[in-house]
Amino acid sequence: MNGNGHIPVLLEEVLEYLNITREGIYIDCTIGLGGHAYEIARRNPKASLIGFDIDEHSLLKAKKKLQPFADRVELFHSDFRYLPDLSIDFSDIRGILLDLGISSYQLDSPERGFSFNREGPLDMRMDLRNRTTADKIINKYPEQKLVQIFWEYGELRQSRRLAREIVSRRKQKRFETTTQLCRTVEEICRWRPQKGKIHPAAKVFQAIRIEVNQELKGLSDFLERVAEKLPKKARIAAISFHSLEDRIIKHTFARLANEPDSYPLLLILTKKPVVPTDEEIANNSRARSAKLRAAEKI
Ligand SMILES: C[S@@+](CC[C@H](N)C(=O)[O-])C[C@H]1O[C@@H](n2cnc3c(N)ncnc32)[C@H](O)[C@@H]1O
Repeated sequence: MNGNGHIPVLLEEVLEYLNITREGIYIDCTIGLGGHAYEIARRNPKASLIGFDIDEHSLLKAKKKLQPFADRVELFHSDFRYLPDLSIDFSDIRGILLDLGISSYQLDSPERGFSFNREGPLDMRMDLRNRTTADKIINKYPEQKLVQIFWEYGELRQSRRLAREIVSRRKQKRFETTTQLCRTVEEICRWRPQKGKIHPAAKVFQAIRIEVNQELKGLSDFLERVAEKLPKKARIAAISFHSLEDRIIKHTFARLANEPDSYPLLLILTKKPVVPTDEEIANNSRARSAKLRAAEKI
């Protein structure tokens, strides 16, 4: 644990794959509560850090945590997908970290609406400047669009039935809260708790969250643009928490490592994704579905 009750996922593995011993700039694209960033700065006094987060509340927490290293940390309230457009000297970059999805702080704040078993508004925005909320999706999106979101982003078998019922029920009474939506999902999907079975609301909430925050959009393009700009030997480490994101990272790394018409840009360092040990999962259940992939610029 490194402060605030927050445990950074796959910490030692990330630090090893990022090769944090070099002098230069390390970029944490998803600074969150600053868990990984803190350890990079603490263990390497010659490292400078650039951090991004679209959630200004998280950014404030990270700023506080990283205060001891303030003279070599720069934080941006921005989508990391703008990184390739920044006017910085990319030749100084030694490593880039992506720890995708939401933080434990966001999940544990009921007023943000990310958790299906805590009463809160239908929000789910990481960036509060975003005009699309979960409320808009559930109460306004057409049925076909809901089917597509539940199917593509939630991989939910009952996508059609659920979308049809939501559209029919919202005509009587609009959906207001997370728990109201959760109870409706349980009822329509005829949920009976069973060991090893994922709660259907977990899939529905994941799907809505991905749509609200456009989480998959531009990820592949970002990795490609950043890989082009990095100097030789710089590392990229990316942690994902669901298969859709992992698939994008895996295929993009593979394409950039085996570019048929030009020179390859990357060497893949993790033939298979690195996953947490049983011990880490026992200490931090959020790590359960984490997968780390890493590559080096060649
Ligand atoms: C899993 S948490 C990172 C936790 C962090 N590694 C730590 O140890 O404290 C992911 C963070 O990334 C942020 N985030 C997600 N997508 C983003 C994006 N496109 N640009 C910038 N930040 C993003 C979220 O707001 C969240 O704070």
